[in-house]
Amino acid sequence: VGDGVLVAEVDRVDDELLAAWALLLPQLSPTAAPVTREALQRVVDSAGTSLLVARADGRVAGSLTLAVHATPTGVHAWIEDVVVDGGARGRGIGEALTRRAVELAAERGAATVDLTSSPSREAANRLYQRMGFERRQTNAYRRRLPPS
Ligand SMILES: CC(C)(COP(=O)(O)OP(=O)(O)OC[C@H]1O[C@@H](n2cnc3c(N)ncnc32)[C@H](O)[C@@H]1OP(=O)(O)O)[C@@H](O)C(=O)NCCC(=O)NCCS
Repeated sequence: VGDGVLVAEVDRVDDELLAAWALLLPQLSPTAAPVTREALQRVVDSAGTSLLVARADGRVAGSLTLAVHATPTGVHAWIEDVVVDGGARGRGIGEALTRRAVELAAERGAATVDLTSSPSREAANRLYQRMGFERRQTNAYRRRLPPS
């Protein structure tokens, strides 16, 4: 992993994190509504969910969310919202975030770690396969709900 890269779990939402996410979100999803302090706080407050940030040279350069949950068939983990700032890519920050998430999932008893990634996300798909994620033959479904 690149020099000076540190991955940590967020335990407190502050202005720096909010400002960092304001820059990261459009790079993850150009159409997403802006991330609010409350949204970040909800992640931090959620049991079983971890918001990870990577710092490069002291500044927030990327983030990922890990969710671990139990079902009758075992403990499962999901990785979502993986993003690294455009100016900091190609230094192993995405890899460092993913590696830490997999470690945390294992520590919390997960037997599997799942994620989805659009085939158009070439760097992401290479990253995950390089890190041992295997492509599954399954259909990913989503039902959208009206805003509450
Ligand atoms: C996917 C993403 C998180 C990877 O972050 P990263 O810190 O660049 O990850 P890494 O450095 O560990 O590896 C990235 C790959 O891109 C390559 N790369 C090198 N320079 C690059 C650059 N300037 N820009 C983009 N990718 C670069 C790396 O060599 C590596 O390729 P490899 O797997 O063939 O070795 C980042 O590209 C990103 O945020 N993309 C937009 C959002 C996205 O697609 N998120 C994933 C959602 S599923």
